[in-house]
Amino acid sequence: MNIGLLGGTFDPLHNGHISLIRGALESGIVDAVIVIPSARNPFKSGRGVSAAPYRYYMTCHGVEEIFEGVNVFVSDIEFMYSGTSFTLTTIKEISKTSYIRAFLKSNGIKTSEADDNHRFFWITGSDVLPSFEKWHEADKILGVAGLLVASRPGDGVDIPYQVERLSKVFGLDPDIRQFKIEGVDVSSSGIRRNMSFVDTPSSVQEFIRTHDLYNHEELFDEVSDDAIDNYNEFSIKLYRFLGEKRLLHTLNVGRLSLRYASIYDKSLCDRALIAGELHDCAKELDESLQAQMAHEWSGDLFVEKKLLHSPAGAVMAKDEFSVTDPEILDAITYHTTGRGNMTLLDKIVYLADKLEPSRTYADLSKERELSVKDIDAALRLCVKSVKKKFDSRGQRIHPLTLDFMNDIGL
Ligand SMILES: [Fe+2]
Ligand SMILES: [Fe+2]
Repeated sequence: MNIGLLGGTFDPLHNGHISLIRGALESGIVDAVIVIPSARNPFKSGRGVSAAPYRYYMTCHGVEEIFEGVNVFVSDIEFMYSGTSFTLTTIKEISKTSYIRAFLKSNGIKTSEADDNHRFFWITGSDVLPSFEKWHEADKILGVAGLLVASRPGDGVDIPYQVERLSKVFGLDPDIRQFKIEGVDVSSSGIRRNMSFVDTPSSVQEFIRTHDLYNHEELFDEVSDDAIDNYNEFSIKLYRFLGEKRLLHTLNVGRLSLRYASIYDKSLCDRALIAGELHDCAKELDESLQAQMAHEWSGDLFVEKKLLHSPAGAVMAKDEFSVTDPEILDAITYHTTGRGNMTLLDKIVYLADKLEPSRTYADLSKERELSVKDIDAALRLCVKSVKKKFDSRGQRIHPLTLDFMNDIGL
């Protein structure tokens, strides 16, 4: 098979990307296109780019909507290796027989040993050709893949001339082919700047709405470079431990915790982001492992199944994510029950867990409105409904929650 590879940030996937994919397929040069959202961007700091799992899942939904039944797939290959996501590394990793065979099979394409001999093409705009030699290990890229170049009307790039030029630069005969597409004047940064999503698939619009993705992004300016790096790196690692829904939930809690910290105590921004992001990290571990970790962390304080992941999460944050800050570990430990004398960080993570934007278990508009004005009042409202739920089910309220309720005057 000839397989086109389209890498990018996809923050968000938009109609320009879609026209590129369509054009590549319609050219007949490739039989399939694999879209590859980047995990770590070589030329961008983590600031100003949504965490990788958001971009990956958003791209999956958009591709599923637009290209249902067509050979267009999304790969998470860049989550699978550490280090910066350079084009050459990605091509080498995706083209490994073991990976590509399993990947195509899981997407319903039958392959056998006989047709493992795929040819890969990196899809890109023609505007990259005049300076392609500046790409990281450009010569090696041309050694393992072709380039499939989209030319737009009036882009002013003389492709045959550029091919000849690059042949001379590299001393090889590069496989550079072109296809034509209509110009679509749209960019991800423009979409985010204007907060106008009409040029994105409707499932992408829905995703952005559900996770309140591009609102309050300026709050990341309050976060240190180290915390941003950790937040991004942890989000990639969490992908291995959590399914889509819970992973996006826990990232949402990180972002909302950051927002609350920016309102109530800016000095907590770093810790709030990380504590929120990791609060549910252990929730999909095997239950017996959770119980063992919970026991190791806090004896028999948490024995109910639903609560195990909180102390287990603190152990995992410490051992797997190397978090040592006791305030962060406490906020994770007590995010399910609360406790007496809650710290502001405890309260922030507890509340963000209840109110992050994808939560739809009840009408939370009052709680959300209150949460940015008076954190204790918002907590009272949330805990009241927790108590109501427990009372109606005749369930025992955890002693730590009773202390918490007592403290906030319930
Ligand atoms: Fe939880
Ligand atoms: Fe949670």
